[in-house]
Amino acid sequence: MSDPTRPIRTAVVIPAAGRGVRLGPGTPKALRTLGGTPMLVHAVRAMAASRAVSHIVVVAPSDGATEVDRLLHEYPLADRTELVVVPGGRTRQESVRLGLAALPEGIDVVLVHDAARPLVPVDTVDAVIAAVRAGAPAVVPALPLADTVKQVEPQPQGTPEPVVGTPERSLLRAVQTPQGFDPETLRKAHDTVVEGEGATDDAGLAERLGVPVVVVPGHEEAFKVTRPLDLVLAEAVLARRRATDGYV
Ligand code: CTP
Ligand code: MG
Repeated sequence: MSDPTRPIRTAVVIPAAGRGVRLGPGTPKALRTLGGTPMLVHAVRAMAASRAVSHIVVVAPSDGATEVDRLLHEYPLADRTELVVVPGGRTRQESVRLGLAALPEGIDVVLVHDAARPLVPVDTVDAVIAAVRAGAPAVVPALPLADTVKQVEPQPQGTPEPVVGTPERSLLRAVQTPQGFDPETLRKAHDTVVEGEGATDDAGLAERLGVPVVVVPGHEEAFKVTRPLDLVLAEAVLARRRATDGYV
């Protein structure tokens, strides 16, 4: 039986173990700086900004966990948030699974948030947490698409690709993080769904188990830093926040 007097506790797993191949050669993506501060630090702060978040597990590059741990100690968080760093895996799915294994007992809500989305506003984080608390086992923040999407028959590079369909844009959503889950649901999804079955996000794993997933409004500042141009946008958002909101 759950104890109604115990506060609801939210934990976050932050996969940050990727190299960032699409960003180009250099430092692993999560450690690249935005406005002089590592992207991972922005992402950790964005999660710790929610008063509901009591635990954060950062999943670091497997050969760099000690260095990441040392780095994060240079940017202390408010006392209410505990932070641990664990080494990641070869794929995002494996990294999230390793992060989930480091969660403490007694967590009521778990979020998974990409280190590559450093600027997600706290209102989006809180909206995801609120939807899980309200009873949804899996919640994703998402936005309508600006571009029309075509389905194609992939071809070797250099060969034009035949279009096989155009899904109705008004029915599509571009999905962001943090994604929120009932912890048992997410653990079961990661224990059950085999790597390489095509799920590119955590909610996709839950969908494979037949778990209902709901969408709440995402935010344009929760975009993922993937390619070099995204860094330009992120620097601009950060500069505006620092000028107008006192953001550090
Ligand atoms: N990630 C991870 N472990 C991996 C691969 C990715 O923890 N083995 C994390 C990344 O660090 C990132 C998030 O998953 O925070 C989303 O992945 P993506 O944006 O694709 O980052 P990378 O995989 O690093 O980038 P790329 O695909 O361009 O190499
Ligand atoms: Mg990747």
